[in-house]
Amino acid sequence: MVSGRGSNLRALHEKAPEQGYVIIGVVSNNPTAPAVDYARDQGLAVRIVDHRQFATRDAFEVALAAELDDLAPDVIALAGFLRVLGTDFVGRYRGRLLNIHPSLLPAFPGLDTHRRALASGARFHGATVHLVTDAVDGGPIIAQTGLTVNPGESPAALAARVLTLEHALYPYVLGGFARGETSDR
Ligand code: GAR
Repeated sequence: MVSGRGSNLRALHEKAPEQGYVIIGVVSNNPTAPAVDYARDQGLAVRIVDHRQFATRDAFEVALAAELDDLAPDVIALAGFLRVLGTDFVGRYRGRLLNIHPSLLPAFPGLDTHRRALASGARFHGATVHLVTDAVDGGPIIAQTGLTVNPGESPAALAARVLTLEHALYPYVLGGFARGETSDR
C-alpha cells in the first residue's frame, strides 16, 4: 500500500525474486502518486481507493479492505502509505500488516523523523519494520537497521542514508515472512 514516491515499493519489487515473495498488487489512496506510475509501468495490478471520495474514514477503510480482500494477499506491506488506519481495519489484518518507519522506534514516531532525530542530538538513527496495530507507529517491532549520525549532517543527507537502509531491510523482512520465519503465532 502506497501514497507517494514509491522508492520502497521499487526496492520490494526488485528484490522479490531473490527474497522469494511475489507482489500481487499495489493499492494507493493517491491516484497521482509516482508509486502508482511505477506499479503500472511494471505491470503490477493497481487499485486506487482515493480517500477524498469518501465522507468518513470508516467508509474509506471499508472500500480499502474490499480491494485488499479481492487481491487476497498473505501479507500487506505499507510502503509510504500515509493515512492513519483505524481499529477495525488494523484488526482485520492483524499479524500480517507491516509498516516501515524512518526511525529507530520507539524513538520518533510520527512525521519529520530525521529533523527531530538531529535536533535531539541522537547519535544513532535508522528505520524500523513493525506490525501495525492501532497504536500509531507503536506495533511490535520485527526488525531495525541503524547508522551513526555524522557530525553536522543535514536532515536531507540523513534521510537519504536511512532510505538506502530501508530499501535493504524491508525486502529482507518480507522474505522472512515468505519463508515462514516471522509470525505472531
Ligand atoms: C519512507 O521513508 C517510509 O519509511 C516513510 O515514508 C517514506 C516513503 O518513501 N514512512 C513513514 O513515515 C510512515 N510513518 P517511499 O514512498 O519512497 O517509499
